[in-house]
Amino acid sequence: MKAYLVTGGAGFIGSNFVLRERKREKARIVNLDLLTYAGNVNNLNSLRGDRNHIFVKGDIADRELLRELLAQYQPAAVIHFAAESHVDRSIDGPADFIRTNVVGTFHLLEEARRYWDSLSAEEKKAFRFVHISTDEVYGSLGPNDPPFREDTPYAPNSPYSASKAASDHLVRAYFHTYGFPTVTTNCSNNYGPMQFPEKLIPLVILNALEGKSLPIYGDGLNIRDWLYVEDHCEAIGEVLDKGRVGETYNIGGHCEKSNLEMVKTICAILDELCPESPYAPHDSLITFVKDRPGHDRRYAIDSSRIGQELGWTPKESLETGLRKTIEWYLSHKEWVKDVKTGAYQDWLAKQYG
Ligand code: NAD
Ligand code: TYD
Repeated sequence: MKAYLVTGGAGFIGSNFVLRERKREKARIVNLDLLTYAGNVNNLNSLRGDRNHIFVKGDIADRELLRELLAQYQPAAVIHFAAESHVDRSIDGPADFIRTNVVGTFHLLEEARRYWDSLSAEEKKAFRFVHISTDEVYGSLGPNDPPFREDTPYAPNSPYSASKAASDHLVRAYFHTYGFPTVTTNCSNNYGPMQFPEKLIPLVILNALEGKSLPIYGDGLNIRDWLYVEDHCEAIGEVLDKGRVGETYNIGGHCEKSNLEMVKTICAILDELCPESPYAPHDSLITFVKDRPGHDRRYAIDSSRIGQELGWTPKESLETGLRKTIEWYLSHKEWVKDVKTGAYQDWLAKQYG
């Protein structure tokens, strides 16, 4: 069985990807994750005893470790999820974002290229480095602007998106300079099971269940293009198998919603699923709070390239995807209890007072 080296496979999207790949049983997964506050081994509980899932706690900037793992497992691909991923934290403290997203990606590229150089001509041709990135690199859209395309100029506005843009440029340069076979994906906002509750959707679900306020930044009319995480993972699988080397693919949900609409939809589903809740109607908990500095107004993705070339379209609608997500949080109380550690409470206190 071939092997894939997955970085950041204990985080939200990475763990969903790893679970999906192991279900397909097409590849062994070597899962390299530093287990920062956002990494959670509980996401991978169902893989306990799976000999084809090898978890390694470590840093993508650790060159020696990378060299060892690549030599030992001889992966046919690297799928690179590991990153600092939360915009608000990047505003609070950008240094970790530069360290992991920029410098870490550089070290990973260097070691992966070195390994790739050692492969036979046939293995070299088949090898892929899939870099998972974000639509936030394109900046902010006005209300009537067309959605982001792959040739939309980069204009990142937060330290997070700037660090991801820098990593995208490095990946691009490794293809153009060295012929290293990279493919980059730029995806819109994801939601789904196992997302750390610092991001809007899980934060709102969990706060609502506890009768806490639902903080909406500014006027709540900022727009995001929401995609269910399993649809994203499927798209990455298609790009890995069939994507053109050196190319970038935009991935989105065709689902533009304002934050206020999203929060109200979540509240309505919770009212229905938890009719006994003392906090229903849950939208009475909505509270408008100070806006995020430099808050991008609108993101929207034109995903026609991946649709036309690789035949991918999202399967989940917002209604079905959100329902699945909320049901997941309702039925995973232990997981929720575990992530709400002291460090998480510290972040909430710092961010929301
Ligand atoms: P996440 O924060 O949930 O997970 C990141 C994972 O990377 C964690 O498990 C963490 O422990 C690990 N990690 C961090 N620094 C590391 C390091 N130095 N070495 C090894 N591992 C390290 O993030 P996510 O939401 O799953 O996002 C995954 C990727 O997808 C990121 O690159 C992100 O930019 C991109 N992305 C996310 C979204 C979204 O909506 N969440 C949308 C588009 C793209
Ligand atoms: P987030 O989940 O942090 O994703 P991103 O900033 O990468 O898009 O935020 C999604 C949107 O929700 C974004 O416009 C900011 C907003 N938001 C709130 O209004 N309140 C919150 O408490 C959070 C975390 C986000």
